[in-house]
Amino acid sequence: MRSWASGSGPARGEGQRNAGRAHRAASFARIAFFRSTRGNQPAVAVELLISESKIRDRLEVMGRQIQGDYRDKPLTIVAVLTGSLIALADLVRQIRIPLRIALVQASSYRGATTNATTLVVNEAFAPDVAGRDVLLLDDILDTGQTLSALVEHLKDRGAATVRTAVLLRKIGRQIVPIEPDYCGFVIPDAFVVGYGLDYNDEYRHLPYVGVLREG
Ligand code: XMP
Repeated sequence: MRSWASGSGPARGEGQRNAGRAHRAASFARIAFFRSTRGNQPAVAVELLISESKIRDRLEVMGRQIQGDYRDKPLTIVAVLTGSLIALADLVRQIRIPLRIALVQASSYRGATTNATTLVVNEAFAPDVAGRDVLLLDDILDTGQTLSALVEHLKDRGAATVRTAVLLRKIGRQIVPIEPDYCGFVIPDAFVVGYGLDYNDEYRHLPYVGVLREG
């Protein structure tokens, strides 16, 4: 099993100054912390990847960095539904400067006749971002398509600046070149749940991030 020592390289680009060092998630714990069997569905176990206390510590550091970087700026944190809700709630309570919170929902649809995907943005809970310094918060950077499309979308809406923050960054899957300005943890290429992330809309409530395993 691959081991993920702490202290990976920081995010590059403009965000490097801000990002600090994204932490490598710890090795997968061998213990199944959460196991469920329902009806005739296969048993599913969640193996601990990042503990509640590690997430708390990391968000505290990220919050302090954001607070320093946005002092005296009109900050709006735009969180991507639904996966970033729990990170949003914990992160904003570490930031002690005035800020606004907005929510967007992004759904991608694959064309019936082509492989091209279209991202549809629902802004029902997004106030006007024109002239604001926007920090876009998502749960996980996987291929990078969602984050980069939303950055362009927010710039089109007149945001003064747009930076990005992610709780997790999956290694080896990115196809769109975007460097998050703030990154919580770099994780291996595995499907993760918990702390906002779901499988079939379940597991979001787990206070830690884990890897879903069947059996
Ligand atoms: P892209 O590929 O656009 O994807 O960077 C970002 C979105 O994909 C979802 N995603 C995951 N959700 N466990 C999840 O629960 C995962 O391991 C995972 N990988 C990607 C997520 O909604 C994210 O916002």
